[in-house]
Amino acid sequence: MKIRFITALIGAVVISASLNAAPAKSEKHAAAAVQFRQAMLQLVRSNVGALGGMAKDQIPMNAATLEKNAMRIEQLSLMMDDYFSVDTRNFPVETDALPGVWEDYADFQSKIVALTTAANELKVAAQQGDESSYKAKIGAIFKSCKGCHDTYKAE
Ligand code: HEC
Repeated sequence: MKIRFITALIGAVVISASLNAAPAKSEKHAAAAVQFRQAMLQLVRSNVGALGGMAKDQIPMNAATLEKNAMRIEQLSLMMDDYFSVDTRNFPVETDALPGVWEDYADFQSKIVALTTAANELKVAAQQGDESSYKAKIGAIFKSCKGCHDTYKAE
């Protein structure tokens, strides 16, 4: 009985966490989706600069900054599914998103999850003061950017 309840609960969480992609309803809708996702990614970018600098010893490691920026990246990554689930392929929008995003949306979602996971792990490490793992965890975030861009973003 208890197990069935927990299974149902996990099922509900999984369903609510993953949207299916659907075509944009109009050119205006598609343009807005592009604008939002690019703005969100610019905010992601604004939070990785310091992490890169720390990983390369250009600026001192700072646990408070690591925690704050990792938390922001985690939160921003949770918006990616919302904005990318609007399939903009049918409209003449200016985008670097490749058509593959919506050809295998489940795979694209798995790349989002990789970023969410990497950001969460850096946040937790910073909260715990686990200094020896900082560089590896920062590296995992950058790896997840590249892991998605290589397949789904035009140069
Ligand atoms: C799940 C896939 C995915 C992940 C993960 C991802 N990106 Fe992207 N990114 C994209 C796609 C697709 C575009 C093209 C969006 C468009 O032009 O509509 C993009 C575009 C961008 C842009 C340009 C936005 C603009 O103004 O046109 C920046 C900057 C960016 N990403 C930074 C990052 C950084 C930094 C990370 C890692 C912390 C990251 N991205 C992780 C898929 C991803």
